[in-house]
Amino acid sequence: MSIVVTGATGHLGRQVVEQLLARGATPAGILAGGRNPEALHELAALGVRTARIDYNDPATLEAAFADAEKVLLISGTEVGQRVPQHHAVIEAAQRVNATVVYTSAPKASTSALVLAPEHKATEELLEASGLTHTVLRNSWYTENYDETIHQGVATGALLTSTGTGRIASAPRRDYAEAAAVVLLSKEHDGAVLELAGDAPWTFEELAATITEVSGREVRVEQLSTEEHLAALTSFGLDAGTAGFITALDANIAEGLLADSDGTLARLIGRPTTTLTEHVRTLLAE
Ligand SMILES: NC(=O)c1ccc[n+]([C@@H]2O[C@H](COP(=O)([O-])OP(=O)(O)OC[C@H]3O[C@@H](n4cnc5c(N)ncnc54)[C@H](OP(=O)(O)O)[C@@H]3O)[C@@H](O)[C@H]2O)c1
Repeated sequence: MSIVVTGATGHLGRQVVEQLLARGATPAGILAGGRNPEALHELAALGVRTARIDYNDPATLEAAFADAEKVLLISGTEVGQRVPQHHAVIEAAQRVNATVVYTSAPKASTSALVLAPEHKATEELLEASGLTHTVLRNSWYTENYDETIHQGVATGALLTSTGTGRIASAPRRDYAEAAAVVLLSKEHDGAVLELAGDAPWTFEELAATITEVSGREVRVEQLSTEEHLAALTSFGLDAGTAGFITALDANIAEGLLADSDGTLARLIGRPTTTLTEHVRTLLAE
């Protein structure tokens, strides 16, 4: 019987496999899947089995899940395609009655977050499947702001339309540890877990943190959504990407990513990684 980690060629999936091993899982009992198995050679070198898993190719799912006891379904990256892709994964898991652990979004079933509908639909598919499942409603990755942090150091300014909205982020490493904890136990079967960083922060606090860590004075330029959209397109971003970024910032301004109830810290048995720790590590690289 194996634990299958989908999306293991990605940042989160790779770290989940590493955390499973760090927590004592047998390498041969883990199957790391990705669309491009060649990108899994570093995990294969750790003794983990690897296989091609493409959510658009049911045969790869059937083959990879043959002896699956648990499947970590890492949400896909193709926004707009995710519901049929995730449905295919759930159907393949049904054939072998595997427990499914799914990476969702904060308060997916009720949130106005622009990304919520596909996660809500996937959670509903899981519910309807009758499979034992756990939902990991991961909040933002702190790494989403790595480029912003570097730009802040380079230019002394952070452009945002998040206003006073807080972001309850944590680095992927913390979410990966939580996923490993859940995959290695039955304790969280059936649970919907809202996972977020312990100390939600504002852009003003991000600027102050970068200033403190780098020694470079960094200030925040708060823009309206329209001003932000115009600035991003003037930097060469396509209209779709700029619109997506500003819609997310508007969601943050509304407080949709602000909540944290300590579940992530309790699961991983330590406080989540702070913004200061993250910025310090990033700028030391
Ligand atoms: N919470 C957040 O702040 C946040 C931010 C960004 C994304 N996300 C979500 O969280 C997921 C994991 O994050 P991440 O940082 O690990 O993203 P990532 O590094 O982009 O990895 C995404 C993984 O999903 C795989 N994938 C995408 N479409 C697939 C398909 N059709 N079939 C099979 N595998 C597919 C990718 O495979 P390839 O290597 O072949 O592309 C990759 O392994 C993302 O996919 C996204 O849904 C969350």
